[in-house]
Amino acid sequence: MKLWGGRFEAGPSEVFERFSGSLDFDRRLIDADIRGSQAFARALERVGILTAEERGRIVAAFDEIRAEAASPGFYEDATDEDVHTLVIRKLKEKAGGVADKIHTGRSRNEQVSLDMRLWLREECADMQASLCAVMGRLLDHAEANSTAIVPGYTHTRRAQAVLWPHYLLAYFEMFLRDWERFAEAKRRTNVLPLGSGALAGSGFPFDREAIAQDLGFEGITRNSMDASGDRDFALDFLYACSVTMIHLSRLAEDWILYSSEEFGWLELGDGVTSGSSLMPQKKNPDSLELIRGKSGRVIGCLTSLLVTMKGLPMTYNRDMQEDKVPLFDAAYQLNGSLLMMSAVIESTRLNPARPAAAAAESWVVATDLAEALARAGTPFHQAHQIVGRFVLESVRTGKKPSDWTAEEMRRFAPEFTGEFAELLNADKGIGTREIPGGTGPVSVARALALAKQVLGQLIL
Ligand code: ARG
Repeated sequence: MKLWGGRFEAGPSEVFERFSGSLDFDRRLIDADIRGSQAFARALERVGILTAEERGRIVAAFDEIRAEAASPGFYEDATDEDVHTLVIRKLKEKAGGVADKIHTGRSRNEQVSLDMRLWLREECADMQASLCAVMGRLLDHAEANSTAIVPGYTHTRRAQAVLWPHYLLAYFEMFLRDWERFAEAKRRTNVLPLGSGALAGSGFPFDREAIAQDLGFEGITRNSMDASGDRDFALDFLYACSVTMIHLSRLAEDWILYSSEEFGWLELGDGVTSGSSLMPQKKNPDSLELIRGKSGRVIGCLTSLLVTMKGLPMTYNRDMQEDKVPLFDAAYQLNGSLLMMSAVIESTRLNPARPAAAAAESWVVATDLAEALARAGTPFHQAHQIVGRFVLESVRTGKKPSDWTAEEMRRFAPEFTGEFAELLNADKGIGTREIPGGTGPVSVARALALAKQVLGQLIL
């Protein structure tokens, strides 16, 4: 069936039909399409195009189609151009002639935007729920390892000691912002385009606010040309997906390293790792590698739609049909990655002795020493110099912080008075960072409690 044809003398060629059809992928929108069309039937009744009886028959037929669509074989032999066409053909089969009125004053241009919005706002909510699961696992892991000390890195070099929960809470913050990005994407998506017609506004006096209410939209689009030509609601979603994937990918990268023999901090669960077909000893972090790998794919989805939209003249162009595959793919890959990351975090155990040793054998305490000198009155640049020379001497003589005594330190520099030697222990320096957002134990405990509270409110 076609929703057009009167103006043509010949039908479309087979090659064009095959090339332009979208049913293979846009069938995923069938529930949204039916839901939107049922609301539209009610709107048609309100403007007097359908009688109450006709509307009732149409809505009931749509319910039947929805139920049938769940059965295998529903799409077999379907050669319709797209999901909208298929649904209308099925409606005709069930409801007969009255189905010819369903498209009164409506265009597929607004219909496809409507369907995608209905679908996408639920996807946003799904992503938010999956993000909450990841955040919850991070907090559990932080609570279970609340006193562990690790070297924090800059430039992949040991920089300053931090509490392991502080590191985990950094990712919590990133995922919390991702949650907000999906809330924002949902807010922009949750607007009704119906009533816009093909581009100029419908020729029928629909009460658009009433349709919006019927479908649970927060408002209506304000410009019919924008409604027909806009896809930035989809781009918002893809951007939110991409940033979330980047965060997942960075966490994956960290944990791939931290669980390696070289680090030995983390033990990933057997259930999220795989072995080698040749090397019997291997336990590979494939789950995390795939998360890292899929981030490229999702960023590709965003790039794909950005490039599709760039330079499209107002308003709808068929190019825009290419929005769906990247959108569906990004949503599927991200949700899968979030579920995978939750499982990885849940399965992972920290071996606190290894990062503690890494902190103790390195010079992560250097900044603590320099700052203590500055607190005692030495101008910071001079303090930096003194500690720099102290570290150089240690490196030359192969000394770790614990190899120094207070007496030897004082001999090295008179500024190092009695209590300075205590700062050779990384946990002493951590204790000086009791500032909001810092890694001091009290600050971190407070941040962890706050994070739990915030997460509890998101889940509600
Ligand atoms: N399958 C089309 C899409 O996904 C639906 C809109 C078609 N509109 C049109 N004027 N050809 O974008």
